[in-house]
Amino acid sequence: MLDQALKPSSIVHHLDQYVIGQDDAKKIVAVAVWSHYRKLARLQREEVPIVKSNILLVGPSGTGKTLLCETLARGLDVPFVTAEATALAQTRYVNEELEAILQRLVDKADGDLAKAQTGIVFIDEIDKLKAPDGEAHGTSGENVQHALLRIMEGAAVKLGRADYLDTTNLLFICGGAFVGLDEIMSQTHSFGFIATSSDESQKILDRLNTRIKPTDLFTFGLIPEFTGRLPIIARFRDLSRDTLVRIMTEPRNAIYRQFRDIFRAEGVELTVEPKVFGQIADLAIEYKTGARSLRGIFEELLTPLLYVVPDNPDIRKVTIASLFTEPTIARGKRAG
Ligand SMILES: Nc1ncnc2c1ncn2[C@@H]1O[C@H](COP(=O)(O)OP(=O)(O)OP(=O)(O)O)[C@@H](O)[C@H]1O
Ligand SMILES: [Mg+2]
Repeated sequence: MLDQALKPSSIVHHLDQYVIGQDDAKKIVAVAVWSHYRKLARLQREEVPIVKSNILLVGPSGTGKTLLCETLARGLDVPFVTAEATALAQTRYVNEELEAILQRLVDKADGDLAKAQTGIVFIDEIDKLKAPDGEAHGTSGENVQHALLRIMEGAAVKLGRADYLDTTNLLFICGGAFVGLDEIMSQTHSFGFIATSSDESQKILDRLNTRIKPTDLFTFGLIPEFTGRLPIIARFRDLSRDTLVRIMTEPRNAIYRQFRDIFRAEGVELTVEPKVFGQIADLAIEYKTGARSLRGIFEELLTPLLYVVPDNPDIRKVTIASLFTEPTIARGKRAG
């Protein structure tokens, strides 16, 4: 299980190396994961049943929900599997599919059933399970919600011929963009009536108003039993221009670093000036796909250069000063 010395702050520190911004969401997830494993440790000592707090990640597309979970998985020493709710909704054999997911969890635990039973299951695109407006019950998304509910509540799921996996102590993290949830919330939230005399109470009102209530998720199309099993909600925010710029340069695997490495391997020093990152961020904001379009724009910018570099071994330096001007190319003899 988790390292005893692990603290919420060390989880956040790990996430910070790859996920930029989203500080509130990082903290909420870190505390939730940490306290889950605290409860499990206590359960081993005292046999008190635990009250589980599964997590829901909500926020616009391309803002880091999946990235955060993948990064979390790499940083924790617990078995971790990811499943796509959309795939679950498309199969006629939901229970078989869920068994396969849990089997993967056991594989991740190297066959150790006890270890697998303390793992984390991340179910992405959960918002795609919404019941379509005005349609009768029993639609496929709703069936999947019921099937998921069963394992989230704790069930003995038969795997293969002999093994049963008890899902009681698994931690579930669900993620989704929930397009349209803001409108639902703006219709149902009414914490505006208290006369606010200070900044402080205005802040509290703002916080209450941005809280997602289970009833909002219900209106969106998740069944009440399901929303009830996801008491912890972490909201992801739209990425600001500054954050987008940081995403291109700061993470351990940032695209700028990756491309500098590619050029360096050809003996070329690549420099992209700060202004360019701002220009790319502006385009990305226009495309409204969060950080997802950054890579594409960046690649488009560098593809013509990557085409000519291998044919021109005398190119030493490439400098890009603007998205809208030709790059400057310096030539010379290759060192060594
Ligand atoms: N906060 C962030 N920090 C660093 N990179 C990010 C961040 N948000 C998004 N990215 C980049 O954008 C890509 C897409 O993000 P991600 O897959 O996490 O989006 P998502 O929130 O899960 O969106 P969707 O709801 O569409 O699934 C990531 O692989 C990463 O490269
Ligand atoms: Mg995602």
